[in-house]
Order: sequence, then structure tokens, then C-alpha cells
Amino acid sequence: MEKIAIGFLGCGNIGSGVYRLLGERGGEIARNEGVSFTVKRALVRSLAKKRACDVPQEILTDRPEDVLDDPQIGIVMEFMGGAEPAASYIIRALSAGKTVVTANKMALATRWNDIISAAERYGAGLYFEASVCGAIPIIRAMSDSLQANRIESVMGIINGTTNYILSRMSSEGAAYADVLADAQRLGLAEPDPTADVEGFDAAYKLSILASLAFHRHVPVESVYREGITAVTPLDVQCGREFGLTLKLLAIAKQENGRIQVRVHPTFVPDAHPLASVSDAFNAVYVDGSACGEMMFYGRGAGDMPTASALVSDLIKAGRAKRHALPAVFGEAEEIADDWNSVYFIRMLAADELGVLSMVSGKLAEHGVSIASMMQKGRDPHSGYAQLVFLTHRAGERAVRTALSEMDGKTVSQVSVIRVEGQS
Ligand SMILES: NC(=O)c1ccc[n+]([C@@H]2O[C@H](COP(=O)([O-])OP(=O)(O)OC[C@H]3O[C@@H](n4cnc5c(N)ncnc54)[C@H](OP(=O)(O)O)[C@@H]3O)[C@@H](O)[C@H]2O)c1
Repeated sequence: MEKIAIGFLGCGNIGSGVYRLLGERGGEIARNEGVSFTVKRALVRSLAKKRACDVPQEILTDRPEDVLDDPQIGIVMEFMGGAEPAASYIIRALSAGKTVVTANKMALATRWNDIISAAERYGAGLYFEASVCGAIPIIRAMSDSLQANRIESVMGIINGTTNYILSRMSSEGAAYADVLADAQRLGLAEPDPTADVEGFDAAYKLSILASLAFHRHVPVESVYREGITAVTPLDVQCGREFGLTLKLLAIAKQENGRIQVRVHPTFVPDAHPLASVSDAFNAVYVDGSACGEMMFYGRGAGDMPTASALVSDLIKAGRAKRHALPAVFGEAEEIADDWNSVYFIRMLAADELGVLSMVSGKLAEHGVSIASMMQKGRDPHSGYAQLVFLTHRAGERAVRTALSEMDGKTVSQVSVIRVEGQS
């Protein structure tokens, strides 16, 4: 039986989950896999804090070197979060030839090249299943099970907080701010929700997924990002009337030799498998050249779902004779800043003769044709009416330009939401 000493960087929510899972399942894992793991040291900020697991006080330390410089520690598990000092510690561990298992999408996405180079240079293992979608084995699927395919597209609901908010806005017609406040009370959203609701968290994960899908590094800075803060109940309701459900999607596609990477509110047809993914669940919908379309669904966060991915990576790392690094070669050069989509456009328009022909004429001038249209009442005081359009597939830039050329006095409060999964 091989015995491996491991070191933790962090012992909060996720670290405690890993400690508990190793306690519950360690004996059986050792029997099944022929390798046993002992947590030798765990780095924390505060030695006095009460822990959510029964980690012995004597293995806790607030000195990073106790983990990073201990020659007996062969595998470092990082779940301290944030870009720094986590990324520097990961690089230090790899440079000492230690294997690193991490849940940290932010450190990986922001320091990808430095982390991969350190792993390559020192022949160290790097495992990061838990960094994207918690328990869902999407990293393993992309790097192992689907490697025979050319990946055409990846579309995911990869942030549980925003999916919870949009699901409740959709089922209850509630306003964004009210649902966010509720999510914060329930501990489903952080006191500062920016990383989730503005799409940063999803962008980190998409950078990792797209790099694996297309075998070239897709920097997080190149991900187009729009959050959900401007979504209104009226948009959600109008979408429903068109048979569409609103999600925050992370989309990576290869079209005409260019890579698209974008995170934004997106309508999907009610019948699309992603439409039924509700509450804090995650799902990733992959289209591969040989496998066709498939969906991975499950819990994308939480202590035990994330510990499931981390401990599985730990076992894989512990059993590996040779570590395989991600098959990502060089930088993605052709990242698209324009793309085609179906568009949902809602606007407040003066209810007077000629407005409709002005709007359709301006769209047509830029090659955008209308597939369907609905008028939502007329305000008797202002004389304005809500007009909602679905376009045929059109270019992002063309839609934006057409809307910007419309007279602001006649047309205002314009919402533009892309629609996927519909031609
Ligand atoms: N929460 C989830 O559901 C989830 C899911 C997937 C991935 N992740 C990722 O997992 C990681 C950890 O998340 P978490 O929820 O477990 O966070 P957490 O509860 O805040 O735990 C962070 C741990 O790291 C320690 N720590 C932080 N900064 C430190 C520093 N500079 N020096 C020493 N120790 C430090 C903290 O020490 P103290 O305890 O003393 O404060 C704590 O034990 C993040 O990268 C997150 O993105 C989380």
C-alpha cells in the first residue's frame, strides 16, 4: 500500500469537506485504490477559528512553508481561494516537484501560463476538476473521455448563484434586487455578490473550459462578459411568452476558424435541456464532432460536491505513474469580437404612426430581419408601448449599430438578449 502525505492550503468550507470525506471514505479508498492519504499540515489564516471538521489542532499552521517546504508532503491541495497568494503558493509547490490539486478557478484563470509552465518545468502534476462546476466531471470529460472529438461548442450554466436568482425571477416574476437579497440571507450569494452577478466567476471557468476544448489558451481577459444586474422581470416574462427561458450562459464556440467566448444572459427555448436546469444546479452542454450533443448536470458548488471532485483528483494523482498536463498548446489568436445569434429586443417606443416601420427599416438596413414581434400594452399617459422582437440570426455588431442609429426620442429603454439553441 502506497502512503502519501498531503498538505492543505486552506481549511475553510471546502477544506473541511475534503477532510471529512477523507475521514469517512479514506479506508475504503485505500482498499480499492491501493493508496492511502494522510493530511500532515493544513495552512489557515487564524489558528483560533472553530473548524467545520475535527482536524487536529496540531496539524494547523499559519506558516505556508510548513506545507510548501516539507519534503515529506507529496501532494498539496489548494482551497484557500483568491488569485494571490494562492497562485504563488501553487507555483512554489509545483516548483518543488509536488503535485497540486486545486479548486481555485481564479488563480488558474489569471495565472494559467505561469502555473502550467511551472508544472511542465518541474514535471509536477496539476489537477483541477473542482475548479469548474464542483462535482460535475467536466474537466475529466474534456481532457480524457471526449478527446477523440473536435469540440464545436460548450454552453454552460456554470454559476449556481445567478441560476438561483434567474430561476426565481422566472418562476415568481420577482425583481432582481429582491431575489438577490433573499439569496444573500440564505447564504447562496456572497455579501459582495459582484463576482457572481457580474459574470466574473463564470468567465474564469469559461477560460479554463475553452482552453481545454480548443487546445489553445483562451485568456480570461478575452471573454466577453455581461452580468445579470440589468435583467428585468419584464424581459423574463416577455421571453416566456416567446417560449424562452433566461439563463446566464457561458458559451465557447468555434465558428469560421474563430473562437467565441462569452458570458451573458441568454434565452434558450423552453424545450432545450439547459432550460430545465433550475436553482443552484449547474449544467454543461457539449457538442462534439463524433459524440454529438450531451449534457453534464449536477451540483456545481457546496462543500461535499466540491470535495467529491477534489478527492477524486487526489486519488488520480496518487495513482498516476506519470502526470499528464492539459493538452493546451500556445495562445488562441483568433478570438471573435462579433458573432451571429438570434436576438430578443425589447424597447419602449412612441405609439405613433411610422415607428414600427422606422424600427424594422433601420434593422433591415443593417441586414437584421425580424422573425416575430409582440406589442405589450400602451401607457395612456406617456403614449409609449413596449415592443418586443425576435430576429432571425444576425450579427452582434449589426444589431448594436442599428439600435444606436434609432432616434432616442422615439425609442428608449432597449434590452438586447441573445438567444441560443434556436435557428
Ligand atoms: N464554496 C464552494 O462551494 C466552492 C466550490 C468550488 C470551488 N470553490 C473554491 O474553493 C476555494 C475555497 O473556497 P471556500 O468556500 O472553502 O473558502 P473559505 O471557506 O473562505 O476557506 C478559505 C480557507 O483558506 C484559508 N486562507 C485564506 N487566505 C489565506 C491566507 N492568505 N493564508 C493562509 N490561509 C488562508 C482560510 O483560513 P481561515 O479559515 O483561518 O480564515 C480558510 O481556511 C476557492 O478557490 C473557491 O473558489 C469553492
